Amino acid sequence: MTERPLLTQRPAWAALQAHFARIQKVHLRELFAADPARGSRLTAEAVGIYLDYSKNRLTEETLQLLFALADACDLRGRIDAMFRGEKINITENRAVLHTALRAPRHATILVDGHNVVPEVHTVLEAMRAFVERIHTHQWKGFTGKPIRNIVNIGIGGSDLGPVMAHEALRFYAQRDLNFRFLSNVDGTDFAETVRDLDPAETLFIVCSKTFTTLETMTNAASARQWLLAALRDPASVARHFVAVSTNAAEVRKFGIDPANMFGFWDWVGGRYSMDSAVGLATMLAIGPQHFRDMLAGFHAMDEHFRTTPFPQNLPVLLGLIGIWYGNFFGAETVAVLPYDQYLKRFPAYLQQLTMESNGKRVTLAGVEVDYQTGSIYWGEPGTNGQHSFYQLIHQGTKLIPCDFIAFCQSLNPVGRHHDLLMANVFAQAEALAFGKTADEVRAEGVPEWLVLHKTFPGNRPSNLLLLEKLTPFTLGTLVALYEHIVFTQGVIWDIDSFDQWGVELGKVLASKIVPELEAAHEPDLQHDSSTNTLIRRYRRFTKPPTP
Ligand code: F6P
Repeated sequence: MTERPLLTQRPAWAALQAHFARIQKVHLRELFAADPARGSRLTAEAVGIYLDYSKNRLTEETLQLLFALADACDLRGRIDAMFRGEKINITENRAVLHTALRAPRHATILVDGHNVVPEVHTVLEAMRAFVERIHTHQWKGFTGKPIRNIVNIGIGGSDLGPVMAHEALRFYAQRDLNFRFLSNVDGTDFAETVRDLDPAETLFIVCSKTFTTLETMTNAASARQWLLAALRDPASVARHFVAVSTNAAEVRKFGIDPANMFGFWDWVGGRYSMDSAVGLATMLAIGPQHFRDMLAGFHAMDEHFRTTPFPQNLPVLLGLIGIWYGNFFGAETVAVLPYDQYLKRFPAYLQQLTMESNGKRVTLAGVEVDYQTGSIYWGEPGTNGQHSFYQLIHQGTKLIPCDFIAFCQSLNPVGRHHDLLMANVFAQAEALAFGKTADEVRAEGVPEWLVLHKTFPGNRPSNLLLLEKLTPFTLGTLVALYEHIVFTQGVIWDIDSFDQWGVELGKVLASKIVPELEAAHEPDLQHDSSTNTLIRRYRRFTKPPTP
């Protein structure tokens, strides 16, 4: 590993700090007043996304300094290395090639000298053929009934992408298939998922990169039992279970015919996998053509990210603006606020993408950082959030940069609804930026004791992403946009955005505690006193001492 200065020791960082000291108090009102064209100038547009970033607390100089930081961190070289298939996930010694999942058939992307693109298209073709068999009822359940229910069993990246895409693209979905997503190891999730389903009409997709994840394998085993209790023949498993995995040996051990396994590869991270075979449920819902359109959207954003100069590059701009707030203003969170009900699971999806990727505190060279890394992402669709947590964003003590996402056309035009929705998103961004001064409040005749309560400080930053319409293509562009924002920020922070060691310890400790909870006799507990007490208390309810 070549020696690199820590981020905070770079001259480009010091330049940004000095600049921050100069402009941290400048109000967006002043910035807009000084430049009447700001609202149209600080915008960028690509692959159907219009980005208005004018309501950010920055100037041209800020942007130049951020681009200089990106250059100092070799962002260009690192983008190229990812697209070339270099093993940039250094702690797992893996290439990072979710971009190959949406590469056109004729592309060549080498991993260890081997072109992976043909395999990607072979799997897509197998998915298409399978989806058509389900849709045309050629694939039937064991008793001859057509499949009407699809249950995706998976967790993390093997759940959140399919769930989000199913919600987001519901408008385009086959309505005669009923989709459920089973993830939690809590038995309630299993019970409620299957409660009203007919096993003879139900297909389970066991979706797990490793095929060893506790939650998924526990749910899959319960699903198999549930099926066998009704159909009473082990041969039925092959008609009611298919797998999405990289682990053929474990799939076979579970009893799923490897012919019904849709593969992917270790160069696809779980949270970057919704456009791989992990998207089987998505393709079943929206059909192969819409799925291809979604991949085209991902690819269009990939190409934009790979080839566009930084000042017009949407993921680079948004990634660097995020660095500006997190590392200089000390903001800890980002609110993602989609003004489209179909995107209601988009913030939840982004939480894994962003926080499992950039929640790291050690550089690629193995040095502990002395600066903030990954932000906390959260959000809810507008306008619901306005009647819940927006109060804190407008008048609270914390700086929360917001990403608003909105579409000019509604998929469900009903009366004036869409104009009202859009008026609200524009109004929120305006109110956050400009607020309402004490003088403006006084001018309304508000008594002096109430003035401060009714004042809005403003100067609260936001980005607004405005698209024409939510389609499979635009969803692909949006997801890829955030993937590349994560990448951009990971490069600046000099961390490995593609491993997830932080999930391991809890898994190991839980596997030690399971036998202690289930043991017939009082176990010899060697944990801390808190954990020991909790385990004993739990056992008093589940294993009362025999008289
Ligand atoms: O939470 C850790 C994690 O490994 C995620 O990165 C992954 O998406 C999820 O578990 C599920 O893993 P698998 O697809 O192997 O079941």
